[in-house]
Amino acid sequence: MIAKRTFKMVCIGGAALFFASCQGKISEKPPVHPNMNMDQQPRKEAQEVNKFFDDNRSMRTPVEGTIARGLKKDDLAYYKGIDENENWIADIPIPVTKELLYRGQDRYDIYCSVCHGGTGNGKGIIMTGNYGYVPAPTYHQDRLREAPDGELYSAIYNGVRTMPSYATQIKVEDRWAIVAYIRALQASQYVDEEAIKEYDVDISALRAEYEAEQQQLAELEEARKPAEAPEAPEASIAMGEQLVGQYACGTCHNTDGTPGGIGPTWKNLFGSTTQGVDADGNAITINKDEAYIRESIVSPGAKKTEGYEAGIMAPYDYLSDAEIESLVLYIKSLSDN
Ligand code: HEC
Ligand code: HEC
Repeated sequence: MIAKRTFKMVCIGGAALFFASCQGKISEKPPVHPNMNMDQQPRKEAQEVNKFFDDNRSMRTPVEGTIARGLKKDDLAYYKGIDENENWIADIPIPVTKELLYRGQDRYDIYCSVCHGGTGNGKGIIMTGNYGYVPAPTYHQDRLREAPDGELYSAIYNGVRTMPSYATQIKVEDRWAIVAYIRALQASQYVDEEAIKEYDVDISALRAEYEAEQQQLAELEEARKPAEAPEAPEASIAMGEQLVGQYACGTCHNTDGTPGGIGPTWKNLFGSTTQGVDADGNAITINKDEAYIRESIVSPGAKKTEGYEAGIMAPYDYLSDAEIESLVLYIKSLSDN
């Protein structure tokens, strides 16, 4: 009987304590801390003054040569895609296996295809709408076919111009897997008809299939257009200037006449004449009139000014007529010619 009563008391007492300890409001007092462990001990806060050292800092620089565990990344080829002279390495530094390629495809489809497209043609889903993204280039051009593997790796690791780095999302081995997969994409889109005869494929059937697909896409595009097109805004210099900001043309072109940019300066571009080459590489003289500027925006591959690389500027062929006209007007306005 006694035991039962004591038990009851203990239960009630315990419950009372339990509910008393949570009063439903925030306490100003430090929590009761019966077991100190190592929670409280003499230490310095970050940035706190420490008279013990001559420089009065409590934060000390690590001893020279200190490397945190797991951060010893002295294999330049593997981690950065470069050799000891900081040149891009020619070949993927790990064995390229079927597993690696499939892994690369998986990662590519997640991280890259939205912009660069499933086949690497630069027409990923966010590039097809007019969302104001800087267009991604196609991988199916000589410059990128001939680029060393390290350079492709660098695009993922460092980013390139307007493309951000993907180093935080994609780990090292996966970056190489993606490079391997880009090579596979490039090979898949660059087979000459002679070589393909070796295999058991029906080229004309493939071509018909491709054309039917293109036809279907064109019809879809047509069907998506609103029945009554909204009134197109008129072309203007102001609209041109706004588009230049929206599409980040300034990453590669300046307007103050400074040479040495990735693309030619726009200052006094209109009305000038320079040497260049046409799409087949024949030397030509280019008169930079309105038609040329328009062509340079819509199909930059058609002619190339001497001293600049082809294939860097992606075509802005999805802009409306008024938008292209506005860009031309804007570039013209930067010229005293
Ligand atoms: C948000 C869109 C976007 C995504 C996602 C993206 N890229 Fe890009 N990529 C671009 C753009 C834009 C450029 C052109 C940058 C420039 O020239 O300013 C580019 C350029 C490149 C180039 C060409 C570099 C050169 O030397 O011209 C490579 C290679 C490349 N990307 C690889 C990748 C890989 C691999 C991934 C996935 C890990 C990826 N990109 C994801 C937009 C993207
Ligand atoms: C990733 C870099 C890059 C971006 C972004 C870029 N361009 Fe270019 N552009 C170039 C390069 C490189 C050339 C010269 C080589 C060539 O003609 O393809 C060029 C050439 C041109 C030319 C011809 C200039 C000449 O002297 O021959 C015009 C006009 C032009 N770009 C307009 C634009 C406009 C408008 C935009 C933005 C909507 C733009 N570019 C965005 C790199 C770029």
